[in-house]
Amino acid sequence: MTLSPTSDWNPEQYGRFRDERARPFFDLLDLVHPRPGMRVVDLGCGTGELTREMHRRLAARETLGIDNSPAMLAKTEPFAGDGLTFMEGDIGAFTSQAGYDLVFSNAALHWIPDHEALLRRLTAALTETGQLAVQVPANDDHLSHATAVAVAREEPFHALLGGHVRQSPVLAPEVYATLLHRFGYRQQHVRLQVYPHELESREAVVEWVRGSVLTDYERRLPEAVWPEFLARYRERLLPQLADTRPFFYPFKRILFWGSHSG
Ligand SMILES: C[S@@+](CC[C@H](N)C(=O)[O-])C[C@H]1O[C@@H](n2cnc3c(N)ncnc32)[C@H](O)[C@@H]1O
Repeated sequence: MTLSPTSDWNPEQYGRFRDERARPFFDLLDLVHPRPGMRVVDLGCGTGELTREMHRRLAARETLGIDNSPAMLAKTEPFAGDGLTFMEGDIGAFTSQAGYDLVFSNAALHWIPDHEALLRRLTAALTETGQLAVQVPANDDHLSHATAVAVAREEPFHALLGGHVRQSPVLAPEVYATLLHRFGYRQQHVRLQVYPHELESREAVVEWVRGSVLTDYERRLPEAVWPEFLARYRERLLPQLADTRPFFYPFKRILFWGSHSG
């Protein structure tokens, strides 16, 4: 499929809920056991601002941020230096024998299919004492996500999307725990956390989802049809949400960490 010119991530839209989106990043970082002189890779690093925070907090020797969005990577320039570098690359194709002390990924692996195979590959990129730290959204059963699926099944969108409906590859927390055990992590921490968000109104939910899960439909639909999809999504979603100010938006995320050392 040819992707439209809007296929890239939009850093401004993503950044609208900067503080809310940063919180899980730091919760994930708190799970990491710092070691002297770490070599770190951040998969789906986005604009690099948080990658730099991690690089500093861990006092890492080297950190490499990888992302496949030119628009996101364009924002990383001011943060590079002192052992921190950024590179364009696809997580789906990421393999490395480089022996990383930490493979870290915040809010990116939900775009990659087959998490069992993915975790096997990421594990192979670690040293014998390495750590894996991942956060993925797990909110697909919320109306904000279910409505996107319902609209994608309506015509004309269904035909224009070639029948594509986004299915999250995110697994249950206990499945991640089992995979970590199977792949030899001697220590682990896996949890489902509900992040409570107070948004200005229910309208803000649309803006939130535009910066995340709806990007998948935006990049697959013809540019001229995208506003129609969005209008239909708004029309179906909003009457289902309480019209309160502020609007309470609970958002589930899975955080998991494993370490090869005991
Ligand atoms: C929700 S943002 C998270 C950015 C950053 N980790 C943070 O915590 O703010 C998801 C990022 O994953 C990137 N991404 C999505 N699929 C990717 C892939 N297959 N390969 C590399 N990066 C990808 C997007 O470009 C985007 O920058």
